[in-house]
Amino acid sequence: MSFPEHYSRFLIAERPNDIITPETFCFETVPFSLQPGKGEVLVQTQYLSIDPAQRLLLNADRAYREPLELGTVMTAIGLGVVREVGESVSLVPGDIVSGNLGWTEYIVFEEKGLQKIDVPQGAQVLDFLGPLGHIGITAVIGLLDYGQLKLGETVLVSGAAGAVGTIVCQLAKARGAKVYAIAGSAEKCAYLEKEAGVHKALNYKAPNFKEEFSTIETFDIFFDNVGGEILNLALTKMNLHARIIICGAISGYNGQETPPLTTYRSLLPKRARIQAFSLMDEAARFSSALQVLIGEFQKGTLRQKYHILEGLPSAPKALDMLFTGESNGKLIVKL
Ligand SMILES: NC(=O)c1ccc[n+]([C@@H]2O[C@H](COP(=O)([O-])OP(=O)(O)OC[C@H]3O[C@@H](n4cnc5c(N)ncnc54)[C@H](OP(=O)(O)O)[C@@H]3O)[C@@H](O)[C@H]2O)c1
Repeated sequence: MSFPEHYSRFLIAERPNDIITPETFCFETVPFSLQPGKGEVLVQTQYLSIDPAQRLLLNADRAYREPLELGTVMTAIGLGVVREVGESVSLVPGDIVSGNLGWTEYIVFEEKGLQKIDVPQGAQVLDFLGPLGHIGITAVIGLLDYGQLKLGETVLVSGAAGAVGTIVCQLAKARGAKVYAIAGSAEKCAYLEKEAGVHKALNYKAPNFKEEFSTIETFDIFFDNVGGEILNLALTKMNLHARIIICGAISGYNGQETPPLTTYRSLLPKRARIQAFSLMDEAARFSSALQVLIGEFQKGTLRQKYHILEGLPSAPKALDMLFTGESNGKLIVKL
């Protein structure tokens, strides 16, 4: 196998105060001198997942783990192909793997930090950054384990047209729920109603959103990806014993002031529960959640729309698109 003389990567140059800027990352091209040692493999990155948590981890304060360090390669879950292996490794060149590869064209990685991908029938490798990867696993654990969805319940989903949101909507529908969705454009709402099978989707950017929201049914589970004002509004629509599952709070990741939880008093009369969760704590559940997802995927009930940008240099722009509403489906950078 021959390798290029140089490869490219992005380092974190400075912490953004709000949206990321051209100064946030430093793009560099360096001589290729990567060589896997004992227990290591050399991986060539093929696809990078662009996730809201990447922006959160650029902030100086601790989120669900330590902030990213300046001067290091920008973090990202990715898919790549093994190009060379060191001693005592069971992966072989040509294997497809997933792991925290980062914004780099090549990386030497410890084998134990990588997962070998065996693509099931009917799927494509990219689905391991979508319904069969961390996205689908988040949806299963949030909705089924923490949400304890029961047949015939009503589910409300925010950030519903995004990667996790669309999987939650379809999974809930496949389990017999009536699903209401909130998303940021008429086009995304039409997709949710026509393709993802939700009962009704509401555009939170429309002038009559609050009026429309007041007319929907009360929910048993609110799967929240957004937080802030949408969370406050949702708490006005709970059924008895409602479960509010905090998956994310993207409305505050760019350093915005988070509005106070003004509607929390409704929790008491509804004996409701608010529960946040993080995949970081759930490694023991990954393989059983994956089996659920493969089952649903092969029945045709789970589909993911991909929004793919070409080339490593497009990664900063892609990250920003998660916050402007320009991303439309699971956002990916293809190298
Ligand atoms: N708990 C966990 O372990 C875990 C794991 C994975 C992801 N997450 C969380 O799950 C959420 C969704 O992640 P994802 O990867 O599926 O991203 P995504 O939904 O594909 O993309 C983010 C979407 O959020 C919406 N958005 C952005 N800013 C907003 C705002 N101020 N108010 C309302 N909506 C806004 C945008 O859609 P619109 O056009 O609809 O505005 C955007 O497309 C994130 O909060 C993420 O942090 C949590």
